[in-house]
Amino acid sequence: MSIKFAILTVSDRSSSGMREDRSGPVLQQAVINYGWEVTQTGIVPDEISEIKERLRYWSDSGKINVILTTGGTGFSPRDVTPEATKEILDRNASGLAEAMRAGSLTITPHAMLSRAVAGIRKKTLIINFPGSPKAALENFRIIAPVLPHAVQLLENDSRAEENHQRPLAA
Ligand code: MTE
Repeated sequence: MSIKFAILTVSDRSSSGMREDRSGPVLQQAVINYGWEVTQTGIVPDEISEIKERLRYWSDSGKINVILTTGGTGFSPRDVTPEATKEILDRNASGLAEAMRAGSLTITPHAMLSRAVAGIRKKTLIINFPGSPKAALENFRIIAPVLPHAVQLLENDSRAEENHQRPLAA
């Protein structure tokens, strides 16, 4: 199934050029490895207004099924990605964030420090990931198997019904 992704790196340092963005490219490669497509990428600083603007622009374009953000989900004062995301969501999809934390807790207790959220704006699913490449990839692998069914449901695709029982092989 063809799924179109956008990937937004949220980082003061990467957006100013002080540090190379490694998490965005790692997520991009993971999406491609699952046979899906990345049509947009971007980097913004840890600023609520800029994060919101980009999330709104991509979801309202009607051309993106899933937006992945990476970074800004922890406890430091500049970590505001979940707050920005919540402000533009129409509906929560908290099961995805819960699953990522539960799955990640089997890898590291630091998983409970992620405040990541997930939800829906119009027909686009938006999911926050932590900022380190390792953490982003681990979390993506946890939720990737359910994304085809999630997108079918968002698109009101008639095939969604037959796939209720069948997550993608991980
Ligand atoms: N989840 C997984 N699977 N693996 C990790 O290494 N790191 C945690 C957590 N989630 C981690 C993880 C850490 S150390 C933090 S602080 C939070 O994600 C938030 O990360 P962020 O501030 O980079 O967004």
